[in-house]
Amino acid sequence: MIESPRGFDIRKLEQWLGGESFVTRLIVLDDVDSTNDFLRALARRGAEEGTVVVADRQTAGHGRRGQPWHSPPGLGLYLSVLFRPRDPADQATRWTLAAAVAACEACRISSAAPIEIKWPNDVLCNGKKLGGVLAEMRSPPDGPVELVVGTGLNVGHGPSDFPGELSCVATSLRLANGGPVPEREQLAADYLRGLARAARDLKAGSWRAVARRWERLAPGAFGQRVRVAAGREPGYEGLTDGLDPLGALRIRREDGRVEVLRRAESVVSLEA
Ligand code: BTN
Repeated sequence: MIESPRGFDIRKLEQWLGGESFVTRLIVLDDVDSTNDFLRALARRGAEEGTVVVADRQTAGHGRRGQPWHSPPGLGLYLSVLFRPRDPADQATRWTLAAAVAACEACRISSAAPIEIKWPNDVLCNGKKLGGVLAEMRSPPDGPVELVVGTGLNVGHGPSDFPGELSCVATSLRLANGGPVPEREQLAADYLRGLARAARDLKAGSWRAVARRWERLAPGAFGQRVRVAAGREPGYEGLTDGLDPLGALRIRREDGRVEVLRRAESVVSLEA
């Protein structure tokens, strides 16, 4: 545990990783626009599965729906991994959930705070956002799939390190722990080890092993009352009922019908 992390030390990460064979190439940058964008460009030029990009700082980090991802130097973990799954595109959500599991488990290793996943891939602590996953996929007609899974975790931020409205909705491991923070290199290694395990399960066809890990970390995945908006339609309410085989969230309506939800934007929890 350290109080003021500075820089990102590739040697420390290599040491923490030990001989984790899943990482085929490790690139650590001081500055980048976005680790996802950087790795997508490498993927297009043929980079190997298991290529990992970490940056100390991002100048144009982004999340879902094109939202900016606040990425100051020294404070966060910004990391992307390249996969080349053979499965069809509709299974990409499984990989996203696998990354959320790995991120949440890595945070829990260094924190006793109530860190959990909100479907599909938000990492929260006491209702505030600690991290998130952005998976971006391209299936070129003449080559293997490029699936870039990027994870951002807020690590060393103090109360004044989040700008504007972010300070109300975001948190960090430092804030969650009330002081001490793990080294980002250790956090990255724990995350990559957890992701490697999940990737092995997915490749072996053991989706349920990953889903079980995810469901254990996501208390809202079962029995939580939610309202689902359906565009201009009235929408509906129901209780969450775990994951379907592709990683979508099942919602059981009051009349017993089960709906399957694929987009996070349309679901609102009705519980505190
Ligand atoms: C979200 O919750 O909306 C997902 C946030 C994902 C942010 C990470 S930081 C590393 C990688 N590079 C990016 O530009 N985005 C992801």
